[in-house]
Amino acid sequence: MKRLSLVFVAVAALAINACKHEQAPTPTPRAQPSPAQRAQELFTNRCATCHGPQGTGDGPAAAALNPRPRNFRDTSWHARATDEHLRKVIVEGGASVGLSPLMAANADLATDVPLRDALVAHVRTLMTAH
Ligand code: HEC
Repeated sequence: MKRLSLVFVAVAALAINACKHEQAPTPTPRAQPSPAQRAQELFTNRCATCHGPQGTGDGPAAAALNPRPRNFRDTSWHARATDEHLRKVIVEGGASVGLSPLMAANADLATDVPLRDALVAHVRTLMTAH
């Protein structure tokens, strides 16, 4: 009898151990991308076609544009252009500030303020990129 219960305990222990092995591994928590990282990605995916990856106004679609996008490395433009102007042109489009309507609105950024502000900051960093 004693031997039987020992066998039972051993089998039960094996079964429990097997169950543990079947459990999915705990997923490693992944850091959420920061607004700055998201803004950089967004610029590459959505803006670089026209503005160029470095913001120099020479993206693949730029040749077809008239007027063409300006060079974001132009320091005097950065000095003139307020953050408010950048926010407005990016969210509401070129036509909202008297620029080309081909600079499309990005209405989704109106509700994602951290991303919008990080994108404005990203455009500022392009001044010194390279
Ligand atoms: C379809 C092409 C196109 C895309 C895509 C585009 N832009 Fe533009 N953008 C333009 C053009 C053209 C102008 C210049 C309009 C003018 O000078 O009349 C402009 C102007 C701007 C300006 C204002 C520059 C100034 O002279 O004041 C900013 C800032 C800007 N774009 C940022 C962005 C950002 C950020 C994105 C991505 C979310 C983006 N653009 C996507 C074509 C584009």
